[in-house]
Amino acid sequence: MDIVNTVAEVRQKIKAARFAAKFIGLVPTMGALHAGHGSLITRAVTECDTVVVSIFVNPTQFGPGEDLDRYPRTLETDAKYCEKLGASLIFAPSPEAMYPQPQLAWVDVETLPEGLCGASRPGHFRGVTTVCAKLFNIVQPDFAYFGQKDAQQAVLIQRMVRDLNLPLEIRLCPIVREKDGLALSSRNRYLSQSERKKAVCLFQSLQRCRQLVEGGQRDVSVLRKAMAESFALPEVSIEYIEIVDPETLQEQSEIQDRSLVAVAARVGATRLIDNIEIDLSNLQEKV
Ligand code: PAF
Repeated sequence: MDIVNTVAEVRQKIKAARFAAKFIGLVPTMGALHAGHGSLITRAVTECDTVVVSIFVNPTQFGPGEDLDRYPRTLETDAKYCEKLGASLIFAPSPEAMYPQPQLAWVDVETLPEGLCGASRPGHFRGVTTVCAKLFNIVQPDFAYFGQKDAQQAVLIQRMVRDLNLPLEIRLCPIVREKDGLALSSRNRYLSQSERKKAVCLFQSLQRCRQLVEGGQRDVSVLRKAMAESFALPEVSIEYIEIVDPETLQEQSEIQDRSLVAVAARVGATRLIDNIEIDLSNLQEKV
């Protein structure tokens, strides 16, 4: 498995695969890889002939005061992990290689970034969609793999691909969780031992919501209130508890056929997110 750092090199490396008309998969990441990324890479390896993992801590998606400088950079370990999983190539550009001049052209998806994480991270999703559009243009994959944990990101990217007729398919993979339910995230490594124990409150709030819906509750204000109880812990503060349409991300006042239940909270100084989708047609109703 090779590691390349420039746009020219990655294009050169995948040229042969493209001419052989083989499927090319892209797994975009910011590194600090964990089993959640592992599940994306494994699926890509199963479905594609050439799998490119991009590892790039994208400065344009971090706001002032966020953790850009602190974000874990673990290229050597990440490379071993990618190789073990069967990836073909790592693309690990420097910020200068990705943004050689001030970026004047941006990809903005309207409306969808307004709520959820976008409300407290202005400009974040513009950075995400722009870097993903750049990666899609550089690698030109047939499939790109994203995790459902970043639900709003996934919705935006799918919409960008559809609205701009980008010639690739987005494949979404389920959230991978620790035994106690905590969703895997590169930021979990910021948590102290006591914060780690409390961090399961995000998952517990989602489970509480699901149980109440299974019991017949449909009123979103009642559900949000009950979910908030899971966060009543020292050092934990809720950023949002939202129940929205999984495609438009518009708030729902009642649980609908499909609802995305999404939470964000700070545990100590660490911002964590999690979500579940409730599909009434698959629900084990216990009314
Ligand atoms: O989900 C991430 O890790 C990042 O937002 C992504 C998609 C790699 C873009 O930088």
